[in-house]
Amino acid sequence: MTIAAHPTTTRPAATPATAMKKIVILGATSGIALEVQRQLARQGRELLLVARSPQRLAELQADLLVRGAHNVSTYSADLASIQQHAAVFEFARRTFRDFDTVLLAYGSMHDQEDSETSIDVLLQELQVNFVSATAILTLFAADLERRGTGCLAAITSVAGDRARRSNYVYGSTKGALSLFLQGLRSRLHPAGVRVITIKPGPVQTPMTDHLPNSARFADPEQVARDIVRALERRSPDVLYTPRIWRYIMTAVRQIPETIFKRLSI
Ligand SMILES: NC(=O)c1ccc[n+]([C@@H]2O[C@H](COP(=O)([O-])OP(=O)(O)OC[C@H]3O[C@@H](n4cnc5c(N)ncnc54)[C@H](OP(=O)(O)O)[C@@H]3O)[C@@H](O)[C@H]2O)c1
Repeated sequence: MTIAAHPTTTRPAATPATAMKKIVILGATSGIALEVQRQLARQGRELLLVARSPQRLAELQADLLVRGAHNVSTYSADLASIQQHAAVFEFARRTFRDFDTVLLAYGSMHDQEDSETSIDVLLQELQVNFVSATAILTLFAADLERRGTGCLAAITSVAGDRARRSNYVYGSTKGALSLFLQGLRSRLHPAGVRVITIKPGPVQTPMTDHLPNSARFADPEQVARDIVRALERRSPDVLYTPRIWRYIMTAVRQIPETIFKRLSI
């Protein structure tokens, strides 16, 4: 698939971009996305939900309309499959015209040991969290860049700030995605398109409910509030949520490698 080249624009960033009205959510069944969608529904926004399960999408659509969403469209797709991306994008472009915000929320976190012993698992983690994510973001980026408006946001993780023994495969996919978003932000800035990197600390969702101490992880409702605020342009380009993780990771990044490699974390 090729994407039409676009002329490099030299005009300064638009200030501020149009208000968030129509939001595409890639990975709408994620625990974090569910809370984001509920908050957006209460604000009467229009939503396009993309996820794998048609049945869950139908349930979500009904629920969000009751909660106040102005309009909820759905599209079923396996987002790890790049062959399906063109259809997702065309559906958004044709039936959800002039969408202004895209939130990429899907992801996977396999057991680290499985990623060390199975190359298939390792590659699957890369495919879901990095390869497919960068592919679909690139499709949507070209459209927003051409229109000179909007916001692209993607959920990476604090795990991408420093690779740890216990989850470096997942962490490296998120770190790579964060770097990609950094470059994309720079590319889209002249066109007036925002790019937000969302870095949650541990959150109570189905992804983490098997982990020890998961009851002490952040409430997805709080994380969703931070995300919605960021989408509304009241936050920096890189959002740490809950906020304390900005300071924790600043400290963690300072630990010298000679010490860090000895830590069994
Ligand atoms: N929870 C945390 O502590 C935490 C911390 C930092 C970052 N994050 C990131 O936050 C994002 C949301 O995760 P979550 O915590 O909300 O976990 P979650 O509830 O387990 O959500 C993961 C979502 O990804 C979807 N997904 C996986 N592979 C997919 C594919 N091939 N096509 C379409 N959808 C796919 C799943 O869809 P199905 O419903 O079809 O399985 C599910 O909705 C992820 O990127 C995660 O890495 C989470």
